[in-house]
Amino acid sequence: MDLLVRGRVWRLLAVDAVGRELPPSGDPAWAELDHHIRFTVWRACRAIPLIVLGMDVLGWSTDFVLVADDPVTHRALTVMRAGAAPICLAMFASFHFTTLARRRPLAVSAPFALTLVAFAAFQLGSLGGVERQLFDFLMFALVPTVMAPAPIVARIGYVSAMAAAMSLGFFAPYGHWSHPFAAATVAFLASIAAMLIVIGHIVYVGACRAFFQEREIERTAAELKALSDSLEGQVQEKTVELRRLYEHLQLVREDERARLSRELHDELGQQLSAIGYVLATAKVRSDRDPASTRRSLDEVSSLLQRASETTRDIARELRPPLLEQYGFVSACEWMARKVTDHLRLECAFESAQDGPECPEPVAVAVYRVLQEALTNVGRHAMATKVRVELRSDASAVELRVTDDGRGLPPDGELGDGLGLVGMEQRMLGLGGTFSVTSGAEGGAVVHARVPMAARSAA
Ligand SMILES: Nc1ncnc2c1ncn2[C@@H]1O[C@H](COP(=O)(O)OP(=O)(O)OP(=O)(O)O)[C@@H](O)[C@H]1O
Ligand SMILES: [Mg+2]
Repeated sequence: MDLLVRGRVWRLLAVDAVGRELPPSGDPAWAELDHHIRFTVWRACRAIPLIVLGMDVLGWSTDFVLVADDPVTHRALTVMRAGAAPICLAMFASFHFTTLARRRPLAVSAPFALTLVAFAAFQLGSLGGVERQLFDFLMFALVPTVMAPAPIVARIGYVSAMAAAMSLGFFAPYGHWSHPFAAATVAFLASIAAMLIVIGHIVYVGACRAFFQEREIERTAAELKALSDSLEGQVQEKTVELRRLYEHLQLVREDERARLSRELHDELGQQLSAIGYVLATAKVRSDRDPASTRRSLDEVSSLLQRASETTRDIARELRPPLLEQYGFVSACEWMARKVTDHLRLECAFESAQDGPECPEPVAVAVYRVLQEALTNVGRHAMATKVRVELRSDASAVELRVTDDGRGLPPDGELGDGLGLVGMEQRMLGLGGTFSVTSGAEGGAVVHARVPMAARSAA
C-alpha cells in the first residue's frame, strides 16, 4: 500500500532529468531503499535529542537576558525548557538502547515529538492567546520535517499529528478558540503544514532517485571492474602464450636451417664435389682413354640425376607440394588418408565445395591445421575413427576434425604443448576462429573457420 501510494505520487511529482525509469514495484531495490531510509532516520533520531537539548540549554541561558523584566514569561519558558529535557533524554535512551527504534524509527520518534510540541504549546498558551503571536514561533517546529526521508502517507500523518498536537496544546486548555483570529491562525498553520508536506516529498523523491542512481552507478562500476579484470587476465594469458609460440617458432626455424644446411652440405655438396671430381678425371684421361671418358660422363649423368632429386626433396620439404599439384581439397584428403593409414585409424573424409578457389594463404593454413589436428589424434586421443569435414562457400572455409577417442582432459588442463596455440594463431592471423572441445558423444572436435577474404597471410 505504502509503495503503491509512493509510486503514484512519484509519477505525479517526479521529474526524471535523465529519463531513467525507476525500478518496478517488487524490485529488490525498493527493499534496499526502505532499509536505507530506516537506517538514515534511526541515525538522525540518535542525534536529534542532543541537538534539541543543546538548543534548550542555550535558550534557557539567553532567557535571563531577553525576558529578565517579565517574570511570568520567564517562569513559563523555564518550565517549558525543564519539561523538554526529560523528553529529549527519554528519546535519546530509546534510540540508543532499544532495538524497536532501529526497526521502526519514525513510529518510535512520533510520541516524543508530539509530546514535546504539545507541552511547548501548552506552556506558551498559558502566556496568552493568538494576540501575542507566540503560536507563530511554534510553527517553526514543523520546518525540520522537510528533511525527514518518509514516504508520503507517513509524512502526511506525521506533520498533521504535530500540527494537531500544537493546536490542541495551545488552544484547548485556555479557551483561546474564542479569539477572532484563532480560526485564521489555525488555517495558516494548516497551509504551512500542507506546503511543508509537498516540499518534503519533493526532497524525498530527489533523495530516493539519487539513491537508485548511485546504486546503478555502483553496480555498473562493479561490472566494469570485473570485465576489465577478466580482460586483463586474458590479455596476460595470451601474451604468455604468444611469447612461448614465438620462442618455439624461433627454435623450429633454427632447427630447420640446421637441417637444410646439413642436407645441402652433406647431400648436394657431396654430389656436386663428386661431379667435379669425375669431370676432372675425365678431362685428364679424355685424350688417351675415350672409353673411360664415356664411363665418366655416364657417372656424371647419374650424379646429376641424384642431385636433381635431392633438390626436389628439399623443395618438397619447404612447401606442401600437393597443394599445387592436386589442389587444396585433394591434397587435404591425401594427407588425411596417409596420416590415418599410418596411425591405423578409420578415416571418413567429407567435403563440400561451393565457391571460388581457396586463396593460397588460407589453403596452406587449413592444411597445416588439419595436419596438426590429425597428429594430435594420433598422440593423445587413443581413437579408432576420425571424421574430417571440409566445407567452403563464397564467404569462408570450414574444417572440422572429430575423433572417437577419450576426449580432452576432464580437468581442462591442456598442458604446455604449442600445437593448439599454433593452430589458433594461424586462424586468428587470417581473421578466422578456432576451437577445440570435447564431443557430445566423447572424443574431441577441432573446428576452424577462415574467411575467404583473409586479412593477412598466416
Ligand atoms: N584429439 C585429442 N584428443 C584428446 N586430447 C587432445 C586432442 N588434441 C589435443 N589434446 C589435448 O590437448 C593438449 C595440447 O595439445 P597440443 O597440440 O597443444 O600440445 P601437444 O600435442 O601436447 O604438444 P605439441 O606442442 O608437440 O603439439 C594435449 O596435451 C592433449 O591433452
Ligand atoms: Mg600437438
